[in-house]
Amino acid sequence: MAAQPLLKVENLVKHFHVKLGAFGERAATVYALDNVDLDIMEGETLSLVGESGCGKSTTGFTILNLYKATSGRVVYKGQDLATLDERQMRPFRRDLQIVFQDPYSTLNPRMTVGEAIGEPILFHKLCTKAELKDKVAALLTDVGLPTRFAQRYPHELSGGQRQRVVIARALACQPKFIVCDEAISALDVSIQAQIINLLLDLQEKYGLTYLFIAHDLAVVRHISTRVGVMYLGRLAELATREELFDNPLHPYTRALLSAVPETDPEHERTRQRQILQGDVPSPLNPPSGCRFHTRCPIAMDVCSKVIPVWKEAKPGHLVACHAVNTEEIA
Ligand SMILES: Nc1ncnc2c1ncn2[C@@H]1O[C@H](COP(=O)(O)OP(=O)(O)OP(=O)(O)O)[C@@H](O)[C@H]1O
Ligand code: SF4
Ligand SMILES: [Mg+2]
Repeated sequence: MAAQPLLKVENLVKHFHVKLGAFGERAATVYALDNVDLDIMEGETLSLVGESGCGKSTTGFTILNLYKATSGRVVYKGQDLATLDERQMRPFRRDLQIVFQDPYSTLNPRMTVGEAIGEPILFHKLCTKAELKDKVAALLTDVGLPTRFAQRYPHELSGGQRQRVVIARALACQPKFIVCDEAISALDVSIQAQIINLLLDLQEKYGLTYLFIAHDLAVVRHISTRVGVMYLGRLAELATREELFDNPLHPYTRALLSAVPETDPEHERTRQRQILQGDVPSPLNPPSGCRFHTRCPIAMDVCSKVIPVWKEAKPGHLVACHAVNTEEIA
């Protein structure tokens, strides 16, 4: 049976109202997310990539209703999460978890590992106090840590071990969906591979769905079912991993992928790199029309005037670009 959407993200918009100037005298708006449309399918790993500040974390936070959406909907189990206050969110919090880059900021230094993992279990009343020790031990085993680690404090662990504890804590409530926001970025490369394999094993064992936010395109290529490319708060392209890496349609995706080294030395020697000119414009004052037009090597007149429609170029391959002619491709 084809996978069903676990979460439907519809026209999600997030603006931050900020104060600028030395004394905060000037009010301004950060246009962080603009009309993001996304179905997150049950059991998949959907990765989000794009340059720093393009809105990847904001997408994750707004989906989880940790940031209040400015407008748009996030439909989960028939409920629009974006309309719920924290009390109304409580029954959904169990299902929807997040793992951050920095396990130090997630773990309370004064709590033992056992207490940190047990806390959400007790909060959601998922077992009795008598059962807690066994439950924590099972979770530690799940994430590949010895059960005696329950007595340790975060500073007694390595970075990789701490991230395993954070994952065990996220798993404690038997979630359906986990946002992994740069969850492996701070770790050594060899440890990254172990944590990725752990995430994949847990996904298979528990049928988890991931929104995987990452900078490293080689990792994204390894782990993803589908990949979404973001630019300045908008989705530029979305396709299966194979389709996106083999047949990118958006000029921004092409530039992004051309920076990834090829594993085949012959291809690496002959490959064409596309270097993007200029910096990403400010989200305080994003360009009109297509937000990429100030850096796009094939920009046309229409690009600065009209926002490109988010359209299906081929089945399952979505793109927002005036230069992509869907009829020609079909
Ligand atoms: N709480 C906030 N208040 C004001 N502006 C914010 C806030 N959070 C994010 N932003 C702004 O929104 C934009 C998107 O930020 P976001 O953190 O989502 O980007 P990102 O793609 O996750 O970047 P990175 O790869 O560096 O983590 C940025 O311009 C950022 O400065
Ligand atoms: S819409 Fe225009 S500016 Fe934007 S990516 Fe396509 S061709 Fe480039
Ligand atoms: Mg981020």
